[in-house]
Amino acid sequence: MSGTGTILHALLDEGLPIAVVVADRPCRGLEVAAAAGVPAVLVDRAESGGFGAAFDRDGYSCRVVEVLRHHGVGLVVMAGFGTVLGQPVHDAYPHRVLNTHPSLLPAFPGWHAVEEALAAGVSVTGCTVHLAELAVDRGPILAQQEVPVEPGDDAATLHERIKQVERRLYPATVRRVLAVLEAGGDPVTLATDAGSAAEVQGVGR
Ligand code: GRF
Repeated sequence: MSGTGTILHALLDEGLPIAVVVADRPCRGLEVAAAAGVPAVLVDRAESGGFGAAFDRDGYSCRVVEVLRHHGVGLVVMAGFGTVLGQPVHDAYPHRVLNTHPSLLPAFPGWHAVEEALAAGVSVTGCTVHLAELAVDRGPILAQQEVPVEPGDDAATLHERIKQVERRLYPATVRRVLAVLEAGGDPVTLATDAGSAAEVQGVGR
């Protein structure tokens, strides 16, 4: 968590068993967690070299793993986490790191997905929930939903409309993943074929 915490809020509202909220910088999400009575831990990126070339990604990732393990976390659910986590997190949580992204991946990966979709002039964008890998915004897709771009949209209005969908799709997908884990399965079995329209929520339905 790095941002405003509205996706976190939706996860909390869904009543999901959230053991701890981790932020990489001081942000409103920590307040959202604290207000809900959930342990909130700042693993400050500034203490691992900050945002420049000196950033120690693996060292930072180990610090995150330490906190997650301390709180008995079994599934990592990123919700606007602005640091790309390194291999130590994926080693500790194989197929157990989820991400939500405000585009129809593989289109528009990266931090400026909404702006780039607008600049490209697409008429439809959306959001994607996927299993995270080391490569940014890559990994098996578990759910997607389309969101139309409307005349007069700017990045703020379009992102908010996408987030309204994320706030439903992400908690629902986390629930599906938890059910698989509780049954002893691997979340990757929930992966859709992103090329198959039938598997993409909102398409053809
Ligand atoms: C969401 O759009 C998420 O997909 C992206 O960051 C945003 C977080 O929103 N990675 P918020 O700060 O929880 O409102």
